[in-house]
Amino acid sequence: MRIDVITIFPDYLAPLDLSLIGKARTRGLVDLRVHDLRAWTHDNHNSVDDAPFGGGAGMVMKPQPWAEALAAVLDDGRAELGADAAPVLVIPGPSGAPFTQPQAHALAEVPWLVFACGRYEGIDERVHEHAREDLGLDTRVVSLGDYVLNGGEVAVLAITEAVVRLLPGVVGNEASLVEESHEGGLLEYPVYTRPARWTAPGSDVERSVPDVLLGGNHAEIARWRYAQRLARTAERRPDLLSAHEASRADGAR
Ligand code: ADE
Repeated sequence: MRIDVITIFPDYLAPLDLSLIGKARTRGLVDLRVHDLRAWTHDNHNSVDDAPFGGGAGMVMKPQPWAEALAAVLDDGRAELGADAAPVLVIPGPSGAPFTQPQAHALAEVPWLVFACGRYEGIDERVHEHAREDLGLDTRVVSLGDYVLNGGEVAVLAITEAVVRLLPGVVGNEASLVEESHEGGLLEYPVYTRPARWTAPGSDVERSVPDVLLGGNHAEIARWRYAQRLARTAERRPDLLSAHEASRADGAR
């Protein structure tokens, strides 16, 4: 998979050199390139923003550097992937549709992703139109959640990690990708490791691992875990539980 990130803070993406994603890059599973948007400015101040038409607080990212950056990144990618290659353009922003695990799976199937990191009040809307209508790009505005970050960079870190760990060969034990939160629309069951009985420092309560997990009866363990997933989802994310029940009812029909 090729990933291009366009940002005014290339250093923000440094964590993508670390851990599983860093290893996936050195092993050639992901070709990730970070571009500084200011490389496509032509004034003395390398300015990328300007005041909003219509007034209001904050600044808006100017269309010209973005159009040049997208053209350059498309040219570069096509030189490598072929003249017909077309990336999915992901523009993180609080006004996007929420990013979810099914979307992570969908993006993991895409050979080329381009992320456009907005800052300030966002990118001039005509850049979105240009990407869709003139460049013909599948352009998606995606939000990490219902809160406002200072820019898209943190979202790119999160989305890239969620997507890249799903690529074949990135996570050593692929079974661990199946039984985790949000797979199958439920949260994950609680997990325990040794010792089977444990007392926290300063506590006089000894805490034990649930007996069912020590018994080795795999069918019973699977039933217990499913019940735990349902109970945990009902408590923490009732919104997910109703969607899960609706999909089970559909499947049963
Ligand atoms: N940029 C600013 N806020 C954001 C959010 N909630 N999700 C994604 N990108 C953002």
